[in-house]
Amino acid sequence: QNCNIGFVGLGVMGKNLALNVADHGYRVAGFDLDAEKIKDVLDTEERERPDSQNEARIIGCSNIEELLGSLVKPRVIVVLVPAGKPVDAVCDSLIEAGLEPDDIVVDCGNSQWTDTIRREAEYKDRLKFFGTAVSGGEVGARFGPSLMPGGDADSWKYLQPMWEAVAAKVDADGNPIVSNIPGKPVTEGEPCTAYLGPNGAGHYVKMVHNGIEYADMQLICEAYHLLRSLLGYEPAEIGKLFEKWNQGVLNSYLVEITADILQQYDHKTGAPLVDMILDSAGQKGTGRWTSISATQMGVPAGIISESVYARALSTLTAEREHAAGILTADVESGDIEAADVEKAIEEALYCAKICAYAQGFQLLRAAEKEYDWTLNFTDIAKIWRGGCIIRASFLQKIADAFIENHDLENLLLNDYFANAMAEKQSGLRKAVVLAAQSGVPTPSFFSALAYFDGYRSEVLPANLLQAQRDYFGAHTYARVDDDSSQKYHTFWQEEGRPERKA
Ligand code: 6PG
Repeated sequence: QNCNIGFVGLGVMGKNLALNVADHGYRVAGFDLDAEKIKDVLDTEERERPDSQNEARIIGCSNIEELLGSLVKPRVIVVLVPAGKPVDAVCDSLIEAGLEPDDIVVDCGNSQWTDTIRREAEYKDRLKFFGTAVSGGEVGARFGPSLMPGGDADSWKYLQPMWEAVAAKVDADGNPIVSNIPGKPVTEGEPCTAYLGPNGAGHYVKMVHNGIEYADMQLICEAYHLLRSLLGYEPAEIGKLFEKWNQGVLNSYLVEITADILQQYDHKTGAPLVDMILDSAGQKGTGRWTSISATQMGVPAGIISESVYARALSTLTAEREHAAGILTADVESGDIEAADVEKAIEEALYCAKICAYAQGFQLLRAAEKEYDWTLNFTDIAKIWRGGCIIRASFLQKIADAFIENHDLENLLLNDYFANAMAEKQSGLRKAVVLAAQSGVPTPSFFSALAYFDGYRSEVLPANLLQAQRDYFGAHTYARVDDDSSQKYHTFWQEEGRPERKA
């Protein structure tokens, strides 16, 4: 009866998070329907346990009742099972096994935020349901993830010391402090976790993180595709170039791993490994949810949506093969200087990345209103500086922008980012022109430029669009010389086209 925290689900994420928690001095009880997984975590714990420690830091339980019996009260139980129905099934079985209303159930999966809102309300009198989204994959979970908690504030007070201990840490400059040594966790630095708000706030923020992750990944892939198609570079050369870019403003985990991927060769054929991987992208749904949420709230998040569509288009393997034999591109090829193209694509990647993050934060601002949350954008940028998949030096700049002005309407309006766009947008324009001329599909670059140009336009052709709507559907329009609440309708079919106030 002396374990501090229980785990239900000891798959990759559950196992690694449990080992991480144990490294920080907490006693863990674990349960999984698959006995092999329990054995695996116990074996790993034994192997990795520091010599100074005689006692096992993780115990395995053969059923839920045993798990509940081994925990101090109020019990904290982390659930790491596939999102959706399995989470409800675990909650129900915990209740059936005698869970008490003060016990805290923490859903650490990639759950949809609406499910977290529902579950918190639905289980209210039977348990305290709390959401904590985890980013960082297997290694992050083991040695320090970014944790995005949301739920009941009292539960947070109880969880906070544990969450701050296991989360990734960054130094005073916002750079991750990394130690991937079992039993020797990082204990200093600022933790990459902060309470984000009630009910589904944490899971919503993680979903937007993943939407940005989709955009970031797609933009890097488009940069690679352009370099390869325009300059004929081999993957390893592009990998080297990305290594160089990773020393500058583009410094990020995703650029770093891409540089590494591109320099690997297939063991079987000796070809670049990337060339042996089928170009059909998978997705579990979080990017799609982000795009749907943006559409529902009327937030322009086109770069994120294009990244989702790009994955969808990639899966049409047979259709694309068929179309490739029918559809041709009328392309232009001119003289291009390799150094100029490299510079343009590097700048394009940076500008498009700024626009994608601007969209992500605009979406968070809309969600704040929609769900009555008070989100702290500085905290959100800060907890993404380490541990998570989108970690990047540039997140410190985003945190600084919101420290300077919490009410910043759009990241693009912050001096640092406005100047970066002014200085480097010519690269984005050039990359888009080159892509169009040479027929290389770069939907997210195109979308980023259109977003930037649309956002900075005082006048858009939506006046004409309003006229069209009024023409065929009498949907009315506002006039530039009257209050925008006043609606007008033109009788487009009548003699003289009379206009009346609606
Ligand atoms: C993370 C990742 C993680 C997972 C994605 C993959 O933050 O650690 O986002 O959650 O890798 O969900 O998503 P797709 O399968 O949709 O690419």
